[in-house]
Amino acid sequence: MRVFTRAGAWALAAGCFGASWGGEPTVPYVPTPQEVVEKMLEIAKVGPQDYVIDLGSGDGRIVITAARKYGARGFGVDLNPERIEESLANARAAGVTGKVAFYRRDLFETDLSEATVITMYLLPRVNLALRPKLLELKPGTRIVSHDFSMDEWKADRHVSMEAKAKYGGSGGRSDIYFWIVPAKAGGVWQWQMPVGGRTLSYEMTLDQKYQMVSGSVKVGGRTVKLRSAKLTGDEIGIAFTAEINGQKVKHAFSGRVAGDTVEGRARLSGGRLESQVEWTAKRGARSAGAAAPRDALLSAASAAR
Ligand SMILES: C[S@@+](CC[C@H](N)C(=O)[O-])C[C@H]1O[C@@H](n2cnc3c(N)ncnc32)[C@H](O)[C@@H]1O
Repeated sequence: MRVFTRAGAWALAAGCFGASWGGEPTVPYVPTPQEVVEKMLEIAKVGPQDYVIDLGSGDGRIVITAARKYGARGFGVDLNPERIEESLANARAAGVTGKVAFYRRDLFETDLSEATVITMYLLPRVNLALRPKLLELKPGTRIVSHDFSMDEWKADRHVSMEAKAKYGGSGGRSDIYFWIVPAKAGGVWQWQMPVGGRTLSYEMTLDQKYQMVSGSVKVGGRTVKLRSAKLTGDEIGIAFTAEINGQKVKHAFSGRVAGDTVEGRARLSGGRLESQVEWTAKRGARSAGAAAPRDALLSAASAAR
């Protein structure tokens, strides 16, 4: 319902839906109010190391603000040549021509691989059409969208604010949605680890839906559910409690997913046990429950305290 309200407001603010500039217009031109631009960049924690790409960049304000205020680099793409001319003039006026560029290009045909931050003010169906491409970006890439979500890919953060300058000054509410592209962490992970003087084999099955992960771990012949599992970009944290040598031992792992390897640290506590060890796990190709091929098991170098 909210979408219809917004679409109506858009039609008024944009003047029309049907203008054509030689490409297929997907979204009309409605600028993001400057106060919302600032909030989007703040939420994405844009800094000098960032490369910001605005999809459907209008007058260039998002990329220009990212460069002027935070020293970021980047580019914008828009199908409308007038918007590109305007953006280039705005970049010159802001003194950021060395940091930003604007191209007349279809956002669906734009290479996004350089981006550390993607910004967009599009439409729900356009966001959904982009979603598979966004999920293939480098884990950790931040995405900020003005007003429109990505349906079942729930935002990591959602902020709602009043924007006086919205819709040409008539004012309105703006929603800002923020995501961090998750690494691909689903599957069966195996590792070995020294625990209380013995080397134990672990097998963890992780189910992943977007950034949400859950699963179980098999150790010492028993399977326990993960108590917590969190995936933020390529950073993973998991925790569970398993019975080892008749004692309940809390396991807390943190690491980075890189392809089919996770590397990080594990903290074990419980009973008379208190140790920290390095943690290296490998993702196996087989399904959960099948016997582990010996060479698929990875040993963890121990650094017991
Ligand atoms: C709602 S405006 C947002 C402008 C700017 N990003 C902002 O937030 O102020 C959407 C822009 O996307 C552009 N656009 C629409 N379809 C596009 C496409 N397929 N490829 C590139 N740009 C497109 C329009 O020309 C318009 O300038």
